[in-house]
Amino acid sequence: MTLSVTVNHRQAHAWNGPLGRHWAAQDRRFDAMLGEADEALFAAAAIGPGDRVLDIGCGAGATTRTAARLAAPGHAVGVDISAPLVDRARERTAAERVPGATFELGDVQAYPFRPGGFDVAISRGGVMFFEDHVTAFANVARALRERGRLVFVCPRRPGPDAEEGAALGLFARRLAKGTRSGGGDPDPGDRAAHTAMASLSEPYRIHAALHRSFAHIAVNPVDVHTHWGDSPADAVDFLLSRAPERSVPAATRAALESTLRPYATSRGVRTRAGVWLVTAVRRDDAGV
Ligand SMILES: C[S@@+](CC[C@H](N)C(=O)[O-])C[C@H]1O[C@@H](n2cnc3c(N)ncnc32)[C@H](O)[C@@H]1O
Repeated sequence: MTLSVTVNHRQAHAWNGPLGRHWAAQDRRFDAMLGEADEALFAAAAIGPGDRVLDIGCGAGATTRTAARLAAPGHAVGVDISAPLVDRARERTAAERVPGATFELGDVQAYPFRPGGFDVAISRGGVMFFEDHVTAFANVARALRERGRLVFVCPRRPGPDAEEGAALGLFARRLAKGTRSGGGDPDPGDRAAHTAMASLSEPYRIHAALHRSFAHIAVNPVDVHTHWGDSPADAVDFLLSRAPERSVPAATRAALESTLRPYATSRGVRTRAGVWLVTAVRRDDAGV
């Protein structure tokens, strides 16, 4: 076990509290929700046999397991700041028998990686939460070998035709109107995580975060769909699962379902969303 230091205390608090426990309990839902980005992520990462892969902010480890399968006989290590998610990642990896995937609890910004120990670092939405992105990506660069690759996806600022913000905004308003508590103030941890989610939503911010440690930085838009559930009722169950103690009257639930009905397709309830696909190569002078 490696001793690791936490510097991102607000995120550690959030992802080890109700937010992280919710992600761990609903990990398959979140995998379904985010899974459409995997194709672009793994095509760009081009992981091959023998590669050593670091998965940054790996959550319950779905992308770590995919990376390990592609890298065999190499391996993939997922690092995450959330104990409930690392526990879940280990459970699922044992159940799915993926011996090449292992997990470490730690803050990637300060984790004492062995220098040059990885060929490629990937992340599906686990890189937005650093208080100091420049330091965090310098630490990732040190963990990579010379010319090691970095590939990640992160949310793009929604455009005027974004479905997701509109759908979730209307959902939240109907929920607040239709429940006695009105939902209350969001947990401060949730607020910190929600704000951080957009920290790399503009390309200039991505370049500013990476340029000291990475070269050949490319930032390309990829359009994906977010999967909320198999039907509007199922999607409402998922969206309400974050606050299971809240009592939602039947009429409100019906109103919530109607919010999502416009997005129901034969493949489930899906809203259009956009991510950035970011690729970069470790600079020769990084990590020295
Ligand atoms: C949006 S979730 C994505 C999880 C996972 N990559 C996936 O696709 O399911 C963000 C993840 O980043 C982790 N995280 C946030 N800050 C971190 C940090 N400083 N170091 C390591 N992990 C972090 C959270 O615990 C969470 O698991």
